[in-house]
Amino acid sequence: MAIYKMNNIDRFDRRIALTGGAGFIGSNLLQYMVPKYPQYLFVNIDCLTYAGNLLSLKSVEKASNYRFEKINICEYDILENCFSSYNITDIIHLAAETHVDQSIANPSAFVETNIRGTFNLLQLARLRKEIIKNFRFHNVSTDEVFGSLNNSGVFTEQSPYRPNSPYSATKAAGDFLLRAYCNTYGLDSIVTNSSNSYGPYQFPEKLIPLVIRNGLIGQSIPVYGDGGNIRDWLYVEDTCRAIDLAFHHGKSGHSYNVGGRNEIKNLDLVKQICRIMDELLGGEPREKLIKFVKDRPGHDRRYAVDPGRIETELGWKPKYDFVDGLRLTVKWYLDNSEWLESCISGRYQEYYKDMYTNR
Ligand code: NAD
Ligand code: TYD
Repeated sequence: MAIYKMNNIDRFDRRIALTGGAGFIGSNLLQYMVPKYPQYLFVNIDCLTYAGNLLSLKSVEKASNYRFEKINICEYDILENCFSSYNITDIIHLAAETHVDQSIANPSAFVETNIRGTFNLLQLARLRKEIIKNFRFHNVSTDEVFGSLNNSGVFTEQSPYRPNSPYSATKAAGDFLLRAYCNTYGLDSIVTNSSNSYGPYQFPEKLIPLVIRNGLIGQSIPVYGDGGNIRDWLYVEDTCRAIDLAFHHGKSGHSYNVGGRNEIKNLDLVKQICRIMDELLGGEPREKLIKFVKDRPGHDRRYAVDPGRIETELGWKPKYDFVDGLRLTVKWYLDNSEWLESCISGRYQEYYKDMYTNR
């Protein structure tokens, strides 16, 4: 008898393979969706790279509709086994190598996971859609696939893909493969292209948690180039709500841009974080820690997302205003310094040693 039949897995309406659930957005998404949908089973497929942290999943690890499987999405046979054991009905795909600086130093890991790994999942989806009616593949992608903007304009769903970093190029490749599987094999597919998320449980290689950590331990805060690059920030819970909506109600073959219409120059953002920390912790002004360093090669100047389609078609609207979201985020990292330090493990140091660095 199939394992899923023995374990009564079919009592769940949907058995969702959620990849990358131990990472930043994945762990926030599981915390959001596991309690909200007790009728679904969530199978977190994550191989725990340096960026994956099971401590981020304490609040859901014992839930009866949650399972963790330590699997690398590049290993097709193991994945296939897992998919049949759980009789998987849908994929929400987040597992990826995600740090642009890492992608400059070590692009091959990005090609492997973001292209080969995505391809493996698509192949499995193609097989499963023959036995599971309405099998859905939701690819969690990025606005970085659209490249860089000058001072004006915004990314819409019609903007051409013009990726500039190995990270964004490999994410674009995943989106193109999905498009091909949708058009060629009739796979039910959804893409969300979201802007920079921020909030709890983000690995401190990314700008916001890195600034907070360095501000805490009194280390210099590296600002690339002139600090004039612009990102469009969105609180992670709003990102999760957008993924949830698109997964449930998005039109197959459509992509949805997700962003908070919240553009900020890096330097202004860093100064804002320093001020919040000074206010909460006192001490010497942290702005003094700011150090301008050599720019990132191929550094995209500006991202800005038009979320009009997801707003009008699906009724999505961000809940968090940036000032509140940033304050909440800084407080969270200050209250969770153990989590922050757990990230900087030996495993991470090992991974990090070859990183492209301009500090
Ligand atoms: P993250 O780096 O925090 O987490 C990635 C997770 O994927 C980790 O838990 C890691 O262990 C896992 N993983 C990596 N390679 C794997 C492999 N080969 N097999 C199995 N698991 C693997 O990333 P994040 O910031 O949470 O991003 C999640 C997704 O959202 C990514 O696909 C990313 O491209 C996309 N995205 C992120 C942002 C953002 O601002 N963070 C914005 C837009 C899109
Ligand atoms: P990051 O968090 O790496 O996200 P992404 O490159 O995917 O947008 O970086 C956000 C911005 O901050 C980006 O313009 C690069 C810049 N940055 C710094 O200035 N200093 C840093 O130490 C880091 C990590 C990023």
